[in-house]
Amino acid sequence: METLFVGRSNLHLQSIDSTNSYASVMLRQIKPAEGTLIFTFKQQKGRGQRGNTWESKPNKNIALSLILYPSFLRAEKQFLLTKIASLAVADLMAELLHSAQLSSEVTIKWPNDIYIGDKKIAGILIENNLREQSLQSSIIGIGININQKTFTKKAKNATSLKLLTDTRFNLLNCLKRFCELIEARYLQLKGGKLEIIDIDYLNYLYRLGEWHDFSSENEIFKGKIIGISKSGKLRIELKSEEVKEFDLKEITFI
Ligand code: BTN
Repeated sequence: METLFVGRSNLHLQSIDSTNSYASVMLRQIKPAEGTLIFTFKQQKGRGQRGNTWESKPNKNIALSLILYPSFLRAEKQFLLTKIASLAVADLMAELLHSAQLSSEVTIKWPNDIYIGDKKIAGILIENNLREQSLQSSIIGIGININQKTFTKKAKNATSLKLLTDTRFNLLNCLKRFCELIEARYLQLKGGKLEIIDIDYLNYLYRLGEWHDFSSENEIFKGKIIGISKSGKLRIELKSEEVKEFDLKEITFI
């Protein structure tokens, strides 16, 4: 693996309920090296955002959890981790689609879903531990749909690399490349290259600058995403020209 620390220590689990749950137990019991990667191709009970489950057929997809110690980040800056994790997955998708001669557009649907067109190809679940005002440890959990061809009704919005390109991808090669890409993004963050991170995240942002319907507090309204606040809220311009900021639980894309 061409990395300095991401994936240098790694654990390939033949099968597990959730790599994030496993990583969280590991964090409590020992202090794994920074960059420790826990992964499986057979996750039985993947956990998603907002208490959802994450579906994955055996030996088709990647489920991974990466352990980081971003103690240099203050708690109010934790959205930067969401940004770099999303960027690394988006970078990987763009590269793999390009290698299969597909020029589909990869986007990040705020805050951290990876989309191709209007379909979701990867999801991220980050679990942070705070100590005082800083991040003590972080589990970056990522599920990427690689070779799965059919999804249940519940995941009706899902797609995969195989569905998009009709090509089968080697899971270990994808995983290795992901390690390089996330390490590069994490080093950007550690090195204070925040402007690059912010610009790249905005460049990938789904529906940036377009008028669409959203719903909030049981009301549907038209809005245009104009950016992200420092704390990671979605900034939306309304037809009245007023700009409002929304937290994850406060808004739904329609
Ligand atoms: C979502 O979009 O709802 C987030 C999905 C996150 C799934 C990944 S798969 C690896 C890691 N382990 C888990 O249990 N969940 C994350």
